[in-house]
Amino acid sequence: MGRFFLTTPINYVNDAPHIGHAYTTVNADALARWHRLAGDEVFFLTGTDEHGAKVAESAAEHGMEPRAWADLTAARFEEAWRGLDIAFDDFIRTSQPRHYRAVQAFLTRIYDNGYIDKGLYQGLYCVRCEDYYTEEELVEGNCPNHGTPVTYMEEENYFFRLDQFTEPLLEWYEQHPEAVRPASKRNEALGFIKGGLRPISITRASLRWGVPVPWDEGHVFYVWYDALVNYLTAIGYGTDEGRWAQWWPSVHHLIGKEILRFHCVWWPAMCMAAGIEPPANIFVHGWLLFGGEKLSKTMLQRLRRSAEEVQLTDVAPEVLTDDFGVDPIRYHLLRVPLGNDSEFSYDSIVARYNADLANNLGNLASRVATVVGSKCGGIGPPPDPASPLAPLAAAAVAEASAAWETFAPHEALAATWRLIGAANAHLEATEPWKLAPGDELEGVLGSALETLRIVALLVSPAMPASARELWRRIGLPGVPEDRRVPTDAAWGGYPGGLPVVKGEPLFPRRRA
Ligand code: MSP
Repeated sequence: MGRFFLTTPINYVNDAPHIGHAYTTVNADALARWHRLAGDEVFFLTGTDEHGAKVAESAAEHGMEPRAWADLTAARFEEAWRGLDIAFDDFIRTSQPRHYRAVQAFLTRIYDNGYIDKGLYQGLYCVRCEDYYTEEELVEGNCPNHGTPVTYMEEENYFFRLDQFTEPLLEWYEQHPEAVRPASKRNEALGFIKGGLRPISITRASLRWGVPVPWDEGHVFYVWYDALVNYLTAIGYGTDEGRWAQWWPSVHHLIGKEILRFHCVWWPAMCMAAGIEPPANIFVHGWLLFGGEKLSKTMLQRLRRSAEEVQLTDVAPEVLTDDFGVDPIRYHLLRVPLGNDSEFSYDSIVARYNADLANNLGNLASRVATVVGSKCGGIGPPPDPASPLAPLAAAAVAEASAAWETFAPHEALAATWRLIGAANAHLEATEPWKLAPGDELEGVLGSALETLRIVALLVSPAMPASARELWRRIGLPGVPEDRRVPTDAAWGGYPGGLPVVKGEPLFPRRRA
């Protein structure tokens, strides 16, 4: 048993949640659920990033005060996550008083340690990224991330002396070769550091919507400077040292690739400047792409207006979950390898749903229940200790465990689906529907039920509600989440003598 502290990026409240945001958060939720199943004490944190120019501008566009606008949009994120069965332990909002206290305590430490000084900022800024760019980084004069114009900014404000951390950061990377994964992203971060670090402007005199700078009332902190600190606020930095020390620095930050520089360069340096250890683990994933571009609301709206053949009718998570169900969408997002960019399309959801859920898992559950109904009076027999499925189940448990541990949900699910495929193939080979009553029939059906029990455990982090339903249908008491893996996933746990119900198809087949 260990501790597992997992974070998602906190979402900007300038816009409604979309499926790109859901990608990170569903993956994080499944990882958190896996660690709970493995017996770890888990703290899974998500929330909203509410300050800054971008949010202030979108509030103004909606004719609202930033705080009222943030209340409204933060609630939409919380609602979207509840709709996707995200079991977070804490939902942090950066407009909360607890966060103001932590940011002010953290930044005062950095100030007192001599790493913040005043200067004139002159340069280019993208409000949509809330990030600075150099001339060389622009693509055809525009923001490399959004393709939109950047603005020239000139303001006297406070600077964090990031330039003083080149050597400490290189040393930290050297001593913690696994801290940033995958290795390609670690190299990208090292590239930024070796490319030269400059002081960063960390306050704004022109903005009111932010955390006030404690030593200079005329300024608020730059949004990224307050946002990153959320990871500390939630575990009691500055208010509950005992709790904080239990969870830090062995955190796992899951982030999208566009915010690598903030998390893998700035954040470790800020931690060093405040005299604390940098975060121990940062896992960087790629983007969901739609037609080769980053999936974003604006892009889909643009595509919808210009191309009738676009089939992803909207990007709001609930549009897809209303159509397919919550678990199939979670499953789909989890089968996208967490690392590189991946294409996302409506057709691929349908194809995967039919192949994996309707034809494979759903089919296994329904044919086993049918034969138990017709041949055993609906009472499940116990498994055969010598079933050829037993070693395959053990392999699936080991492979899935290893994959979850290395932030590879897609591999964990692939291992589980190999077991489901083997169980279907075994039924086809043994044809229990043709067998006479007796030991062989009972052994085959009991082993199929035992496989379904183990599968329910293994899929529960990905599809919690479906796993519970499967568990119930094969007559087991309680819920799979309350069991522990690997102990309870050992072959032989299905006791037999339990009522098995067929019910409606778990995953009715979809027309393409
Ligand atoms: N507020 C910052 C994060 C601050 S963390 C201290 C932010 N917010 S965001 O809402 O714009 O994006 C949050 C995350 O959503 C991204 O880091 C990324 O993980 C995810 N995604 C948004 N669009 C995405 C895709 N198209 N594909 C995959 N993930 C994407 O950045």
